[in-house]
Formats: sequence, structure tokens, C-alpha cells
Amino acid sequence: MEEEKQRGKGNRIILMPSPFQGHITPLLQLANILYSKGFSITIVHTVFNSPDPSSYPHFSFLPLHGALSETEASKVDAVHLTEVINVRCVQPLKECLTLLLSHDKVKEDGCVSCFIVDAALYFTQGVCDEVGVPRIVLRTGGASSFLVFASFPLLREKGYFPVQESRSEEVVVDLPPLKVKDLPVFQSKEPEAFYKLVCRFVDECKKSSGIIWNTFEELESSALTKLRQDFSVPIYPIGPFHKYSLAGSNSTSLLTPDKTCISWLDKQEQKSVVYVSFGSIVAISEEEFLEIAWGLVNSNQPFLWAIRPGTIRGSEWLEPLPSGFLENLGKRGYIVKWAPQEQVLKHPAVGAFWTHNGWNSTLESVCEGVPMICMPSFGDQKINAKYASDVWKVGLQLENKLERGEIEKVIRKLMLGDEANEIRENVMNLKEKANVCLKKGGSSYCFLDSLVSEILSLKS
Ligand code: UDX
Repeated sequence: MEEEKQRGKGNRIILMPSPFQGHITPLLQLANILYSKGFSITIVHTVFNSPDPSSYPHFSFLPLHGALSETEASKVDAVHLTEVINVRCVQPLKECLTLLLSHDKVKEDGCVSCFIVDAALYFTQGVCDEVGVPRIVLRTGGASSFLVFASFPLLREKGYFPVQESRSEEVVVDLPPLKVKDLPVFQSKEPEAFYKLVCRFVDECKKSSGIIWNTFEELESSALTKLRQDFSVPIYPIGPFHKYSLAGSNSTSLLTPDKTCISWLDKQEQKSVVYVSFGSIVAISEEEFLEIAWGLVNSNQPFLWAIRPGTIRGSEWLEPLPSGFLENLGKRGYIVKWAPQEQVLKHPAVGAFWTHNGWNSTLESVCEGVPMICMPSFGDQKINAKYASDVWKVGLQLENKLERGEIEKVIRKLMLGDEANEIRENVMNLKEKANVCLKKGGSSYCFLDSLVSEILSLKS
């Protein structure tokens, strides 16, 4: 009830996501956490990949019209699109914030405490400074990968960029245990654009009033300690967001999850199923797709595969599969376009998660105690995969060529091999730590308390 009193006083927080699934989900989860602490919530968003307001009747939503159309957005990659948003949204956001901070609006809706925004939207620091509202950043990725991003200028100075394949097995001197092959890259027509974007968003984070992480102290303590030394702004690791028990579970999915896979899982043996999903952006070639398909079939383990339409370059969905493949699969495999991933990872039948190691997937796997087969593609994914396999030791990397025999071997090793028990034990330990950190007195619980106090002390 304390929360309702506070909401009555009109402590409003405005939040803005970067319009990609892996970024929208944690931002909306954070908004729900802050709502549970008594704040009123306004979500400002692009029209492209707009969140569904009907899933959040307790929030207000404000689209930034005129900033970016769906058609424009579909033509460029994620880095380019983020750049476009950083330019095009300046004016619409300025107008929107000016309105929300206006005397009449504040009288009607209550005062605004702060603006919380995805780190990738670096342009917002300038806008917030201009309109006079404190800016807190949400970094949706892990702290360990952020530390690497923050080291980009140093890595360039030391000759690690552009990444040279001939040096791939070399350990990066300042960032062990990373090797050159684990450094983040983004396959783009302009690799320099990724470097510039990262440097900009790290710089603007340093000017913010604080950085929130969807991670927890026990998982990334060394990276968080280092970040506290290098950054003078407060750091709040208050994750894992999706494990907070909050009233009402609102959907954050842009695609509709196919829940029929849960009844299929119900029929499988405990810890027997390999769940396969490469998130919302990664695309693969037809050749890679076929190797994955045959590798899964030949492993003889049951599998659930979420194949997002458009995952296979040049195909709409499953066209490259040889005729008869699906019919012969019988009960051994189940394919959906989009899975209810959190529910799947929780299911007792799931024994491994073959993932691209997007941060949300990595964290969700850790929280459910599911060992991982790591196949990172771009950006932070390689770093997350390295931590999963070599630091936390909760997974195995598919390092060699993506080939059916290799896939079969890795699946067997993770499900049945000598290492399997040790990996399972490690991930169960982390799962336990993830549970404890959210309980009263736990690390994330305490950091959330200090974040709430900090927000209440901010004035726009
Ligand atoms: C992107 C980047 O690829 C990633 O590197 C970065 O860390 C976050 O942004 P994405 O590729 O979408 O993320 O992966 P991830 O971070 O794992 O997020 C995917 C989300 O979609 C997860 O929350 C997952 O539960 C959900 N999902 C995925 C489903 O609900 N169903 C599916 O079938 C697949």
C-alpha cells in the first residue's frame, strides 16, 4: 500500500526501449519492477516494433511519430538502424519530453523523476540535459561484455582491431580469458559503424545518473568491480529481471509464442530434450541450417527447435529441408516459429539449450539451470559464450566448423559425457545464486532498494 501512496504522489518514470526484442523485453520487465515499487510508468517508443500497450494497461504509451517507418526499418541491419534512431528521434523525443515535463502535464500526471533508456540510444543524454531531466541508463547486455565494449579504444590502440583471423587463438592481454576470436564483431557493410556506435554509447553512459544491469553481482562480480573502478556513476546490478515475482505476467514478445510445444515436452523424458533457438536477429545460411537439422536428427536426442521465419537467408521458413524430412522426424523433433522460451527452459524435459548466447537467453538458461551449447554469432554473444563455457563452465562451445558430425558429438558430450555432470552441477549452483540474490537481503534486492532511493531523490 506504501507503493500506491507513492504512485498517488505522482512519481512518474519515463522509459524508452531500443526497438529490438532482446532490448524491449528487459526494459518492460524493469518498468514492471519499478511499477511494483510505486512509480507510475510512461513508455516512449518508436513506431517500428512498437510494444503492445494492451499487455500493459497499467502503463501509458507514447509513440514517437515521424521518426522511423516500418518500411525504412526493414531495409537496414541493427547497427545501422540504431544509428538512424539516434539521429531521427532527437527532435520528436525533445518535443515529447518537453510536453511531459510541462506545468499542465505535471499538474495532471505528477512530476517526472527520471528518464530510463536503453544504453544504445546515446542521443538521449543530450536531449535530457537540454530539457532538464535526469537520465539513467539500462544496459540490457551483461557487465562482462560491457567491459569489453568500454575497452574498444584501448583494443584499437593495441592493434586488436580490425580483428585478424590469423591471431584468433591469441589471448587478449588486457581482457583474459578472452581470445582474439571472442572479440565482438558485427558483420556489416561498414564494420567501423559498430565500433563508433559502441564508443558513443559507452561515453554517454559515463555522463548518466546511473547504470542499471540485468545481471547479478554473484554472476559477474569481477566485471562489475572493474566497472565501478572505471566509471564514476552508480552501478545497479538488479537482475535477473524475469525472475521477480510480480503480479500479472505480461507478454513482452513481438511474435506469438506457439504453446503447443509444451504439451509435446510433457511427453518427453526428464532432461532429454535439446531446445534450439538463435534469438530474434541471428540469420544463418541454407548450408548451416541443413547441417544443424541433420546434426540434431543424428544425435538421437529429442529436440525442440524454434525457427523464426526469416532465420534462413533467402527462405521464408523451412523450404530448404529435404522432402520427407519432417514426415520422417516423427515424434523425435518438434519445430515451432517462436517458442514460449521461459516456459520451455523451465520444463523438466529440457536437458540442454543450444543458443546463440544473446544476453537474455544466456541469463534465462542460467536461471533455470539448463546447460548450454554455445554458438555465438555477433556483438556481445561471443563474450557471453566465452563466459558460459570457460568462466562459469555451464556449457560447451561449438567451435569448429558447423558440421553435422561435430554437432552430434557436442550434443552427446553435453547430455551424456563425463563433463555433463560437472556442467549440470555448475549451472545448478548459479541457478541457486540467482534465486538468492532476489530474496530479502540478497544483492539484487539491496541494489534495487538503493536504485529506488536514488530515483526518489532525483529532481527534474
Ligand atoms: C539481441 C542480440 O542478438 C544479443 O546479442 C543481445 O545480447 C540482446 O539483443 P536477441 O538476438 O534477440 O538479442 O537474443 P536474446 O538476448 O537472447 O533475446 C531473445 C529473447 O527472445 C529472449 O528473452 C527469449 O526468451 C525470447 N525468445 C526467443 C522467445 O521468447 N522465443 C523464441 O523462440 C526465441
